[in-house]
Amino acid sequence: MRTLAAALVIALATQAHAFDLQGHRGARGLAPENTLEAFALALSIGVTTLELDLAVTKDDVLVVSHDRRLNPDHTRGPDGKFLDREGPPIRSLTLAQVKQYDVGRLKPGTAYAVSFPEQRPVDGARIPALTEVFDLVKRAGADHVRFNIETKITPTSGDETPDPETFAAAFAKAVRDAGLVSRVSIQSFDWRTLLAMKRIAPEIERVCLTAEALTLDTIKRGEPGPSPWLAGLDVDDFAGSVPRLAQSAGCAVWSPLYRNAKADDIAAAKALGLKVIPWTVNAPVDLERLIALGVDGLITDYPDRLRALLAAKNMPLPPQAAAR
Ligand code: G3P
Ligand code: CA
Repeated sequence: MRTLAAALVIALATQAHAFDLQGHRGARGLAPENTLEAFALALSIGVTTLELDLAVTKDDVLVVSHDRRLNPDHTRGPDGKFLDREGPPIRSLTLAQVKQYDVGRLKPGTAYAVSFPEQRPVDGARIPALTEVFDLVKRAGADHVRFNIETKITPTSGDETPDPETFAAAFAKAVRDAGLVSRVSIQSFDWRTLLAMKRIAPEIERVCLTAEALTLDTIKRGEPGPSPWLAGLDVDDFAGSVPRLAQSAGCAVWSPLYRNAKADDIAAAKALGLKVIPWTVNAPVDLERLIALGVDGLITDYPDRLRALLAAKNMPLPPQAAAR
């Protein structure tokens, strides 16, 4: 009876808090990215979804890291010194070895540190295993919180990541083992893992990430043949429509780079039944613009800013939760 009542409360909360407030890498603007400390902070601010990134260790443990190789911008070795260059691939280290590195502070003087002046260091913070993040949320009783988990793999990542099929299978097993299938989505720029997941665990929601920028173009419109990011699909076969492309890949959500999210494409995606959740939006003016265009959610390094905007608009807010 108690379980039924709790399920009803969660169902009503989910319905009422329809706008998807996603904390990017936890809350990268405020706490060290992809750490338990950042996820705990995001829970306390009150988010719908934790956004996070996955790598896989040598001993096949799913860990939460944006970078395939240890990132010198925020990684210190056991000697307490920042790495002076890119470190080894996580795939070449065991979990015990990964745990020797401190990722709790941005390296002073780097452009990366300058980008996040409000980030408060947490010395001693470690790269968490995915199961540690699931456990944190369970201990907090945050049963309303979802997980938007990105497979960090690229068409050229080679043996620095598992192959797409192995990656998706490990992901599906971890999510099933945790009993979180209904609260997890898999996102990727490399749609090979999405198509693999569609075969392995079709019940896990799939999110098509896209970027069309000078630094990263995963779509490659107008070029002969398909983009290597899109698992054999070619945008030019869909009259250049990225929403149609995402639908054809079997995604429920289209997550474009926020600068690519134009009114007509947002409307087209919604007409196709896709949710639209742009990334990574930090400036209030951009958050405002995209909310006004009717997006279903936003991924932000500053969940506090987005929450304040939603509150000012009298939009429903997700519950806050204290990590234990
Ligand atoms: O959720 C999408 C976003 O996280 C993708 O960009 O590089 O921050 O993982 P990145
Ligand atoms: Ca990500």
